[in-house]
Amino acid sequence: MYFGADYYPEHWPREFWEGHAKLMKEAHFNVVRIGEFAWSKMEPEEGRFDFAWLDEAIEALAREGIQIVLGTPTASPPKWLADLHPDIYMKDEFGLTRGFGGRRHYCQNSPIYREYSKKIVSAMASRYKDHPHVIAWQIDNEFGWNDTARCYCDNCLQEFKRWLQNKYTSIDELNKEWGTIFWSQTYRSWDELILPAHSAADLNVGAAKRYSHNPGLLLDFYRFCSDSVVFYQKLQIDVLRNSGCSQPITHNYMEHFNQLDYYNLGKDLDFISWDNYVVYEWGNKAYETTAMAHDVIRGIKEKNFWVMEQQSGPCGWNHLGDTPKPGQLRLWTYQAIAHGAEGIVYFRWRACPVGAEQYWYGILDHDGIPRRRYREIQQIGRELSELSDIINDSKTISDAAIIQSYDNWWSHEFQPHNPGFDYHRLLHQYYSALMHHHIQADIVSIDTDLSKYKLVLMPAFNLMTDEIQTKVENYVKAGGNLIITFRSGTRNWNNSITLKTLPGYFKELTGVEIEEFDSLNFGRTVKSSGIFGEGTSCVWCDILRPLQAETLAKYSGEFYRGEASVTVNSYGNGKVYYIGCDLDEKAITSLLKYITVESQIKPLLSQPMDGLEVVRKMKDGKIYLFLLNHTDATIEISLEGKYLDMLSCETISTSVTLNAYGIAVLQSL
Ligand code: GAL
Repeated sequence: MYFGADYYPEHWPREFWEGHAKLMKEAHFNVVRIGEFAWSKMEPEEGRFDFAWLDEAIEALAREGIQIVLGTPTASPPKWLADLHPDIYMKDEFGLTRGFGGRRHYCQNSPIYREYSKKIVSAMASRYKDHPHVIAWQIDNEFGWNDTARCYCDNCLQEFKRWLQNKYTSIDELNKEWGTIFWSQTYRSWDELILPAHSAADLNVGAAKRYSHNPGLLLDFYRFCSDSVVFYQKLQIDVLRNSGCSQPITHNYMEHFNQLDYYNLGKDLDFISWDNYVVYEWGNKAYETTAMAHDVIRGIKEKNFWVMEQQSGPCGWNHLGDTPKPGQLRLWTYQAIAHGAEGIVYFRWRACPVGAEQYWYGILDHDGIPRRRYREIQQIGRELSELSDIINDSKTISDAAIIQSYDNWWSHEFQPHNPGFDYHRLLHQYYSALMHHHIQADIVSIDTDLSKYKLVLMPAFNLMTDEIQTKVENYVKAGGNLIITFRSGTRNWNNSITLKTLPGYFKELTGVEIEEFDSLNFGRTVKSSGIFGEGTSCVWCDILRPLQAETLAKYSGEFYRGEASVTVNSYGNGKVYYIGCDLDEKAITSLLKYITVESQIKPLLSQPMDGLEVVRKMKDGKIYLFLLNHTDATIEISLEGKYLDMLSCETISTSVTLNAYGIAVLQSL
């Protein structure tokens, strides 16, 4: 298990380094991540590299037993580079340059920037490829952060044309797939192609944006931008590998970020890491949201991961978020570990007196005095040295899976069907409802092996292919249970609406036809009742005509009163549930209770308890339960069976008590 902090030796006088390293050691640290923004210090002017300071910092840390994850510094190109080649800057959709003054001021499609990136990475690679204390590399920092994945510069236009040529081979094929006959948009040659920048018909309506561009063009542009980042990352990975670096390579992802296809980005990485902030200037997250983010990250490679930046203090840029309460840093750390983290790196070691993140507190305050937060992290370090054997290579075992698709997310994003519809929120709603019942769900791409799961949820899986249809049909035929919701199966993969009767690609599986639908606007709600009691929809209602399916709920209002809203269809040895409307939290929770019981999924604990999270892991044939109390009250949890408390080493049989923000790791006996 790796445990440590994000450290910026370049921010501190040389004479501080040893003291920092000693305090880290006393907190049981064995790793730091460094270097990811230090380009101007590594290459102060073009071609003059200076790594002496970095060598010295690494040595100072290594003397205390601390290993290094080394970041390539390409997220902050130095001023000399940008001044020499202003062509590296991104352009926004209005054609304005996104210039110097912050970070990520580069376009991944700039050929010049790619060359400079290769040079700095290659210089680092030659110096550190065999370094005994550099144990891993991080490429760049948070690709896409602050809307930097999508650029509208001329380099992007040229690359986009190539990307499209590669995908469609002929311009006629592109015209056909996009349907450019609409509004006379037919392109006669590749040269005529455009980026979906600001156009005469685009409008900002209130906070929302109304897109008028061709939906095929928009979706392909989003895919292209994501691919451009994947390509840029690969370019750096290739430099490292071709220079002889054999250390594992990662990139630090962001929670619930959707401008990149995180599955594609993950293919070239050895392990995934991500940055986890829970309470900060921009909000206080529900524990389900963080749990889901961990599961999304584990699902990228279906492997354990690292948290490369784990919140360790109050934080924000212009305002400060809430101060983490005693116990919360520990709770969030165990939550990460429960969901699959094998490396915990706290952001940041010590609050920085200068720069845009003066308010981003770390383990230490600006004055460097170890206080409550340091002591809490030191306690975690002590505990983890005992627990690391059961954490490393442990597996999180889930009976259910939620399918997440970036292509679908993008398509829903610019045409959400209804102002109240949000693809991610829908997935979150289903995930939270399962969590409420203490049922663990993996979040995975459609490429996963579905046969591992008793229940698969494909909420609003709208873009479809024949291959996906066959895969899902085979899963159900073999006995799987599947949930499909409204706005599924209505489009092909290039974003045209299908001519099939809805729910299109899912018609046979679900055994229903959608007779009509009703998009609920301006606060209108519709009730339905059935197997879940009574529920309210405020976004969408599909009016269902069951063909072979059985009705589980019916609408009780509107002109479709008495028509089916939720159905179940037997297909082969399995069952397909079609949920034709959005439902309030209570109704979804109750509906999922019914479906999970029918699917023979046993909850991890029989009694739901608000604020209590339970995660099951397995290592060497032994089962462990992580119990996490996200409330500020002491709670008592009834247990079935006998357990060994891995921290107190006591045997427990009937119940366990958790203090406010307390945790327990129990081994099933
Ligand atoms: C992350 C980023 C860090 C730091 C931190 C606090 O998004 O990777 O470099 O900026 O947030 O803002």
